[in-house]
Amino acid sequence: MRRTLVRMERPADGVEAAVVPGVEIRPWRRSDDHPRIPGVYAAAFGHDPWPDDWDRFEGFDPGGVFVAEERGALAGFCICFPRADDGYLSVVAVVPQARRRGIASALVAAAVERLASLGREVVRIDAYQDAPAAVGAYRSLGFTTYDVVADDDADPRGSAEE
Ligand SMILES: CC(C)(COP(=O)(O)OP(=O)(O)OC[C@H]1O[C@@H](n2cnc3c(N)ncnc32)[C@H](O)[C@@H]1OP(=O)(O)O)[C@@H](O)C(=O)NCCC(=O)NCCS
Repeated sequence: MRRTLVRMERPADGVEAAVVPGVEIRPWRRSDDHPRIPGVYAAAFGHDPWPDDWDRFEGFDPGGVFVAEERGALAGFCICFPRADDGYLSVVAVVPQARRRGIASALVAAAVERLASLGREVVRIDAYQDAPAAVGAYRSLGFTTYDVVADDDADPRGSAEE
């Protein structure tokens, strides 16, 4: 399916760590969080959960996964990793019932800080144009569009908000 991909970027400096009352933003702990993250992904995107090997991809950075925990449950997570010339934010997901409280913003801030600590000066993300929450959240976090491209092999599934 063809969808339009908006490519966005922001400098890796100048991001402020955000605080969301009652929510802890922290690096993941593989032992506890690895099995819980696919369920958060499924709730956020309305898709089937990821398979167990979701973290076995080329370039995976074990220090680049951050979770948001509230009263013992995961409300969201994000994944980022360094590439040769930039840092890349590959997923940000927040469960529907925890949205619009700044959790994605706090997760992205943690990811940007991580990528800056690895010496990356720019952070890039790709978002589908038909996912207004994602594009809106990234824009509010200082990302600007540097390219718009057609993705002919796009995942036809939307997200849980659509
Ligand atoms: C996109 C997503 C991660 C945002 O999570 P969130 O915790 O609700 O985001 P925040 O509360 O940090 O929102 C920050 C800003 O983003 C913008 N934003 C968030 N949701 C929005 C929406 N539905 N429509 C328009 N703008 C939105 C707003 O400017 C918001 O600030 P405000 O609440 O003060 O107006 C969440 O909606 C989600 O998981 N969606 C499904 C998965 C997805 O599309 N992920 C991104 C691609 S990997």
